[in-house]
Amino acid sequence: MTKNLKETYYGKKIDNANILSVDSAIKKLNEAPVVIITGVTGQDGSLMVDYLLKNTSYQIFGGVRRLSVFNHKNINHINDKRFSLVNFDLTDSHTISRVIEKLKPSYFINFAAQSFVGSSWDFPRQTFETNCLSVLDILESIRLYANSCRVYQAGSSEEFGNVSYTPQDENHPLKPRSPYGASKPSARQLIKVYRDSYNMYAVQGWLFNHEGIRRGEEFVSRK
Ligand SMILES: NC(=O)c1ccc[n+]([C@@H]2O[C@H](COP(=O)([O-])OP(=O)(O)OC[C@H]3O[C@@H](n4cnc5c(N)ncnc54)[C@H](O)[C@@H]3O)[C@@H](O)[C@H]2O)c1
Repeated sequence: MTKNLKETYYGKKIDNANILSVDSAIKKLNEAPVVIITGVTGQDGSLMVDYLLKNTSYQIFGGVRRLSVFNHKNINHINDKRFSLVNFDLTDSHTISRVIEKLKPSYFINFAAQSFVGSSWDFPRQTFETNCLSVLDILESIRLYANSCRVYQAGSSEEFGNVSYTPQDENHPLKPRSPYGASKPSARQLIKVYRDSYNMYAVQGWLFNHEGIRRGEEFVSRK
């Protein structure tokens, strides 16, 4: 990479936030299995980093979007050499593919999403790109570059939408009521298609509403 690029794009601000370029992230690799977690500045992603640091010896790369004003409150407490941040945006297939190709993860946990149902009416296309098309890009890159990687995708009970019975189970019909609710089953079908077609280890969980002090302030319920 040219000196110019390093001094401008990878200049002081980015160093301060410790967000690595893929090329710098590679230099951190050692023998330990690599986990990539997206959405680490959010509620579930940050909790997963805490959990994996405590219970495994894996190397963890948190995929984060570059923002001028940082939103790292949920991960500021982490000070562990096994955890690094890497530039990553779900809406950029080039980043997804480069990060997966170079870091060759053993596990890929996708918690990043446009996760606010209400906003999915304001940004329906962006919601679909972030929550569904990105999953296609992730799966395709994993198929090509890290075929034995295990993929976890966060789904949502919003798939069930206008529910027919409670509690819902896997046989419940899909009745989403929002672009967000429609984006999650689409992602889940892609996960299934890649699992069945390419024998990949790819699963999607149905997450029901859960909250904690790390949840974004716009949500209706937040501890
Ligand atoms: N918390 C719940 O009650 C709940 C319920 C059902 C499903 N889910 C799903 O579980 C997952 C985690 O939920 P959460 O509560 O931690 O969400 P959250 O809103 O706290 O975190 C979402 C994360 O995604 C990141 N993100 C958004 N767009 C991105 C992009 N284009 N590129 C890279 N990163 C991007 C955000 O920066 C944030 O770190 C989400 O997929 C959500 O849809 C959550």
